[in-house]
Amino acid sequence: MELAARLDRLAAAAADLVKPGMTVGLGTGSTADALIRELGRRVAAGLLMTGVATSCQSETLARDLGIPLVTLDEVARLDLGIDGADEIDPALDAIKGRGGALLREKLVALACDDYVLVATTEKSVDRLGERTPLPVEIIAFGWSHTAERIRALGYAPQLRMTVGDCSQPATTDNGGYILDCATGSMADPAGLAKSIKIIPGVVEHGLFLSIATSVMQVDPHGDVFIRSRPEV
Ligand code: A5P
Repeated sequence: MELAARLDRLAAAAADLVKPGMTVGLGTGSTADALIRELGRRVAAGLLMTGVATSCQSETLARDLGIPLVTLDEVARLDLGIDGADEIDPALDAIKGRGGALLREKLVALACDDYVLVATTEKSVDRLGERTPLPVEIIAFGWSHTAERIRALGYAPQLRMTVGDCSQPATTDNGGYILDCATGSMADPAGLAKSIKIIPGVVEHGLFLSIATSVMQVDPHGDVFIRSRPEV
């Protein structure tokens, strides 16, 4: 099945989790976009819900579709958050941030009672870092010094650039830069997260550890599966 059709199926299944009256974190990226479009259709058909966008891109899309929005600061908690991911391991831990929205995504995720990652089954890995670099948002000032400190830890950072003729550092919605850090397969994601987070200049990293309560994935045939974290 074509990717777009698979994402639509996933979006429909994820949208079923949104019940009337809920406040929902709206993720960023192509998978989250499919969900926002589906929610837009449901809102047009009468679903009462409020969204909290995780990026300017998602905010614009949701607004265009007529989804009522509030900011994160206007709510104490969100009922549910739904967002995409770049890699997901068997413990439901994830790497996020290819779209550069990891900081706002994490702030919203941490305020959600339930947080569901939506992805194709191709995003599954045995160990995080196997296939994709870890995005790290840093402040622009002195970025090369911050990059050097990350390099000293052995995580080959690459400054993310815009595509096109006049390529320049890509900036996030918060005015930061992104370093894509090749970590290789992570034996200790929590330790790695801690070692990066304490570096001056680092704002946030794309490791989402012990945050997702469920993962919903669509396989190449379009079948959707959900895995949930055991209650503690
Ligand atoms: C945005 O910053 C990211 O965290 C995305 O959620 C993640 O990269 C998944 O994006 P796609 O759904 O486009 O693959």
